[in-house]
Amino acid sequence: MVFYRIFIMRIDILTIFPEMVKAPLDHSIIKRARDKGIAEVYFHNIRDYSTDKHQRVDDYSFGGGAGMVMMIQPIADCIDHLLQERQYDEIIYTAPDGELLQQGICNQLSLAQNIIILCGHYKGIDERIREHYITREISIGDYVLSGGELAAAVIADSIIRLLPDAMGDETSALSDSFQDGLVSPPVYTRPADYHGWKVPDILLSGHERKVIEWRYEQSMERTKERRPSLLNDE
Ligand code: ADE
Repeated sequence: MVFYRIFIMRIDILTIFPEMVKAPLDHSIIKRARDKGIAEVYFHNIRDYSTDKHQRVDDYSFGGGAGMVMMIQPIADCIDHLLQERQYDEIIYTAPDGELLQQGICNQLSLAQNIIILCGHYKGIDERIREHYITREISIGDYVLSGGELAAAVIADSIIRLLPDAMGDETSALSDSFQDGLVSPPVYTRPADYHGWKVPDILLSGHERKVIEWRYEQSMERTKERRPSLLNDE
């Protein structure tokens, strides 16, 4: 069955450093998808929603301890403002203790219409935001970044590139590493012989079925060698 999208995907990114997340989404496939109107990305500076006279967005942690915590008020007001305009399929918080981003999650999120991504900072955000607004918490890996902006850019990129027509060649997202649970086979381009380093003969043979078989075998071998856990996962 073929599914057609009848809506434009909209991603709202909430951050205290909009420039940090804007730049990575303003190039290549993602820029083209946005220019073509396939996806819209809006950036909201949480500071603009602070009612504090110094536009503070963070405060000391109740109970003491090192590190500032992002305050509930500016974030809640920003999200409420967006919720007045439309419904959201997901309100994502980027956090190192969230579920690990994997291709299956990207595929799932690419079917959504409206998504909010809230970038974390400092020691975290007031837990009540997580309890009352956040529908999904995502980590992009088991390491700690200085903030959630790069994670938000990774999430948005991994979703938008999957949208129909975002990529020139419709089939290329399907042949990505991980889409079929395997890593990609090696690829080559001209020249066929670079100072004696040769491209495998099979790829020059013009024998389409054999090329497909060879690529599958290579994917399988590489997955066994480099990412064996992909073969064991359900
Ligand atoms: N914020 C800080 N580290 C992060 C990570 N690894 N993933 C998502 N958000 C983060």
